[in-house]
Amino acid sequence: MKTLQNHQENIERANKAIDKIKDQVSQHEWRLQYHVMPPANWMNDPNGFSFFRGEYHLFYQHHPYDPKWGPMHWGHVKSKDLVNWEHLPIALAPSEPYDKDGCFSGSAIEKDDKLYLIYTGNVWIEDGPLDEDLTQVQAVAVSEDGIHFEKLKENPVIAEIPDGDINIFHFRDPKVWKRGDTYYMVLGSKTKKNTGQVLLYRSEDLIRWDFVSIMAKGEGNFGFMWECPDLFELDGKDVLVMSPQGLEPEGDKYHNLHQAGYIMGQLNYNTGKFNHGALHLLDHGFDFYAPQTMVDDQGRRILVAWMDMWESEMPTQTHGYAGAMTIPRLVTRDKDNLRTVPVPELQTLRQHQVSYENVQVNGASSLNGVEGDCLELEIDIDPNEATTFGLKLRVDDEVNQETKLLFDQQAGTVTLDRNKSGKGPGGFRRTTVNMAKNVHLQIFIDKSSVEIFINRGEKVMTSRIFPTENATGISFFADQEMTIERLSKWELKQAIK
Ligand code: FRU
Repeated sequence: MKTLQNHQENIERANKAIDKIKDQVSQHEWRLQYHVMPPANWMNDPNGFSFFRGEYHLFYQHHPYDPKWGPMHWGHVKSKDLVNWEHLPIALAPSEPYDKDGCFSGSAIEKDDKLYLIYTGNVWIEDGPLDEDLTQVQAVAVSEDGIHFEKLKENPVIAEIPDGDINIFHFRDPKVWKRGDTYYMVLGSKTKKNTGQVLLYRSEDLIRWDFVSIMAKGEGNFGFMWECPDLFELDGKDVLVMSPQGLEPEGDKYHNLHQAGYIMGQLNYNTGKFNHGALHLLDHGFDFYAPQTMVDDQGRRILVAWMDMWESEMPTQTHGYAGAMTIPRLVTRDKDNLRTVPVPELQTLRQHQVSYENVQVNGASSLNGVEGDCLELEIDIDPNEATTFGLKLRVDDEVNQETKLLFDQQAGTVTLDRNKSGKGPGGFRRTTVNMAKNVHLQIFIDKSSVEIFINRGEKVMTSRIFPTENATGISFFADQEMTIERLSKWELKQAIK
């Protein structure tokens, strides 16, 4: 019983630490209004994204004592509609010999009307060389009410690393799903020579797990470690979403420190082998990592990701908070590609609509009433003769600030440029886009973030930006006449208190 008490005590201590500082942090200008972020201090990966008793539950890697990464806890929010989120007490805190240095990423699943969390217990090996200084095991916690979690006495449920070409230090991020009566788990891993791979496990009860196979392994430029794997079926194909670390840049691709993408194919559940195609990125901006998906009661596959990047400068840290979730995105399959678009529920945030039709732009122009720092834009552009065109967001001419989205008709590319976005890191990201037809844009701006959905999820670009409060301008530009066929702008309500 002693151990459970420790867990509870550690949770209470962490909740108190957050309660003490959250009011100081809550009014800061860069705090997001409709994205999930911790009340204060640090978060990274989404964890345990699930549906339990009619509500969406979302957990996250959380350090409640500091705006920097540290001993990981699981923060927790829930929602009835994927839009209005309620903060709940911290769900997991380090407390046991097997997780004393951190409750790392993992997933959640409902079983017998209880919510189970499956996570990685991390323990540092003192004086171990970098990257060989961790012991990682898999553990389970259970809740009757979806709020208070007890770690199982059977923990760790996976303590041994299987034989084979498997690195013994990096063994983490369990994602569990049910197929028929059997539970399956994918785990992030690497080979002894540092190639990313994913392991497959099987269980009848979430407690006793059998190792099935090394399900997939990187070939060529595929990174040294695959973090946060997530396997699901979508319209007859199996999709493995994961976050490969350390891919080398190739042309316009892979310029973030780590990537997040998917491979698609067929998993043979008998052999445990995954036949798959090439890696595709899920997002082409700067800040998108460790995505996790869940399926809801309507059978929809929904994805959220950490809207930041490891080792990136985070100017909010000096104000007592860091890290956020992307807006929830609906995942659909279009042949061998995934499309991700904002969940339609986000439309309930819209207010004060301003609309335009058939506006010609030649040079630069702005539109009355189209401005702000917490808004959604939906735009249809016919580029006509324009070879380069686009828009600038969060503009403040006086201090020369702007975040630019530039289309190049001939090159067939779109570039997101944050070199003049304000504080924080600059740079640009570029990707290809289909411009054979009109360009459709859906853009979400929130105090210190921008998420751009191009051609209904053909490409998505996500970025944190840290402009000044006055940077609320929006302008359009084109080197020859182009037509904004339709434009709507909505202010968005605050959804996370
Ligand atoms: C991914 C990750 C996971 C790990 C967690 C630790 O961002 O490195 O692999 O479980 O973060 O916070």
